[in-house]
Amino acid sequence: MRLLIHRKTGKKYLAKSLPYNTEMGLVRDEGECGRTFSSKGEPFTVTEPRFVDLWAKMRRGPQWAHPKDLSMVVGLTGLGPGWRVVDAGTGSGFAANFFAYHVRPSGHVYSYDVRPQNVRLGQENAEFFGLSDYVTFKEGSVYEGIDEKAVDLVFLDLPEPWRAYEHAAEALKTGGFLVLYLPTVDQVLRAKQELTEDFTPFEVYEVLLRRWKNTDILRPENTGLLHTVFLLISRRV
Ligand SMILES: C[S@@+](CC[C@H](N)C(=O)[O-])C[C@H]1O[C@@H](n2cnc3c(N)ncnc32)[C@H](O)[C@@H]1O
Repeated sequence: MRLLIHRKTGKKYLAKSLPYNTEMGLVRDEGECGRTFSSKGEPFTVTEPRFVDLWAKMRRGPQWAHPKDLSMVVGLTGLGPGWRVVDAGTGSGFAANFFAYHVRPSGHVYSYDVRPQNVRLGQENAEFFGLSDYVTFKEGSVYEGIDEKAVDLVFLDLPEPWRAYEHAAEALKTGGFLVLYLPTVDQVLRAKQELTEDFTPFEVYEVLLRRWKNTDILRPENTGLLHTVFLLISRRV
């Protein structure tokens, strides 16, 4: 897989191999030190794709968690190499792979889904990202139980996370993080009401990210992603 970056606009193309055809001409080879020109004389840089470059080509199933929210989970919990993480539900496996990328090489993610097709999709995407060694996909309901113990983070992106509180409390280390990913206020209220004494009251966040148009003029985009979810963060105490 090669990443082609149009040097004038920053537009990116993910190519399985070269030559690769773009609307700005055919890119035949990598040139010298990755600097080349297309058949239409447009300047390209050819390089190795990084994790973020691959997101767009990941196979999608259920609604995947948004990188802006997952990035904030990393920032607010300090998740990093060596961490053990439980993730549910797998869905498209994006959150599981995002966390696997950050906990490698010494940590591991265990991702549960009740639907076997999502377990397969998560695995397929882990292979696509080259992260299979750092994430295990399991078929099962976290409402019924969590096998892992002494984990640092339990991340729940599913409809009724309060049904997994008891199992999350058993799985987490003291001081470990419970993070809920919830689209609606109704779910946030219920999540609050049902929280047990095993956990601190939730910190509640909404991550607002506004992209700016940067062409001949500089101004905020007038459309964009407004609401994704509320992030609820608590500690096992
Ligand atoms: C919105 S998707 C998760 C998306 C995922 N976080 C991602 O980034 O790709 C919700 C998933 O939760 C799964 N699910 C629902 N109830 C579950 C349970 N009790 N245990 C495990 N997974 C469950 C569903 O099958 C669905 O795939």
